[in-house]
Amino acid sequence: MTSTEVELDPRGQGPDAPWHVIESRAPVFDEVTVLSEDLEVVGSIPPELNGRYIRNTANPQTGWTEHWFIGDGMLHGIELANGKATWYRNRYVRTPQYAHPGADRLELALDMETFTFDHSVSAANTHIIGHGDRILALEEGSFPYEVTPELDTVGPHTFGGALTGPFTAHPKFCPDTGEMLGFGYAQVEPFLTYYRVSPDGSLVQSTPITVTGPTMMHDFAASRNHAIFMDLPAIFDMELAMNGGMPIRWSDDYPPRFGVMPREGGDGDVQWFDVEPSYCFHTLNAFDEGDETVVYGFRVPEIWRESAAMDMSGEPDPAGQPRLYEWRLDRASGKVSERYLDDASGEFPRIAEAVQGHPFRYGYSLGVTGVEGSSGMGGAVYKYDLANGASKEVHRFPAGHENGETVFVPAEGGTNEDDGYLMTYVWKPETDTSYLAILDASNVTADPIAEVHIPRRVVAGFHSSWIPDAR
Ligand SMILES: [Fe+2]
Repeated sequence: MTSTEVELDPRGQGPDAPWHVIESRAPVFDEVTVLSEDLEVVGSIPPELNGRYIRNTANPQTGWTEHWFIGDGMLHGIELANGKATWYRNRYVRTPQYAHPGADRLELALDMETFTFDHSVSAANTHIIGHGDRILALEEGSFPYEVTPELDTVGPHTFGGALTGPFTAHPKFCPDTGEMLGFGYAQVEPFLTYYRVSPDGSLVQSTPITVTGPTMMHDFAASRNHAIFMDLPAIFDMELAMNGGMPIRWSDDYPPRFGVMPREGGDGDVQWFDVEPSYCFHTLNAFDEGDETVVYGFRVPEIWRESAAMDMSGEPDPAGQPRLYEWRLDRASGKVSERYLDDASGEFPRIAEAVQGHPFRYGYSLGVTGVEGSSGMGGAVYKYDLANGASKEVHRFPAGHENGETVFVPAEGGTNEDDGYLMTYVWKPETDTSYLAILDASNVTADPIAEVHIPRRVVAGFHSSWIPDAR
């Protein structure tokens, strides 16, 4: 079955369609390949960039889902080679959810006789990463899905059967060892399991970690020596799950904590720190400084108290929206100090992968600025200078244009942390098309070095990666 044969859900059409399926978020229903001659390049693509920039998105085949986070995964990739854009492709990830458009996720995944979950049931819609010689589409409720460089689906990836539960969409890549560190959370015990994957892609550590309950742990952090878990009050609710929506709600009774564990440690080695109630979808980085483990992330005071519905339209309210935050966890005294570093709202944080886990200077994010004339989240890239009071430089795209997550790609032979490029897809409402923007990370306020214009909308979405040819 192809998606074009799927009947559209009327709830995704017309003036009452929800925020997450309109404008830049509106799904596309066919898979296309656009070759070089139909990709217009403005500026010049640095010839050292050889590989693919890929964004993962939620793209419901029926045109509607209850929540933004649960639509069928669709990858949008563009290949660069020797200063040219060779192709753009968009492809669904072929999962059991894809094979059953609009079906109830719980019904697909849960075997009522054995009360076990099939973790190959996935939207595979959240992130796309390269590790070892594999490219994996990730969604936190299930197994990773392996795809080819041309975005075709290989199938669920279980590290040779070693993985038996969900795997996060936000693993960390150690620049020193080549390891991939990750975790999985579940609605049944063990609620949290820590994973360590060797540079060649073997799952070498699976360690259950005791947390208070079924917390939704979207991300974690890793310093050079520690894994940091965010045990926060967004918890699984069976009643909501049975109703078919996003099964997570806020709890005032759930103790908010961060746990710091030596990277090769176990459950008994985790040191827990009480933190102020909050939620953090995404960390920027973490590092150890003397007795302190320092975590930077984008924090909100709470999420989903009344409802998990998401509508990011309108003027952003910085008090309620994610802002850059610092947690300093003193492993010697057990004390925590925490504070906001910026008044403006940002999300989708990224760093140069070379400084993952280490003291670092620069962070990049989507600027949640609101967008003139539409309900988009933002039209800017923020570059934070953490050595300079988290001051920031801003690249603002033309009025009405919406960028997404921005990925840092190191320049060949670069010596400074910001010697490299920033890549993001940008949506152009006036033509309902998109372009890949390549910025100079060391001069973000300048015009893009290159733009690759695609005669199609690249749907706004979630996370992205640059997958270089030689990985
Ligand atoms: Fe995420």
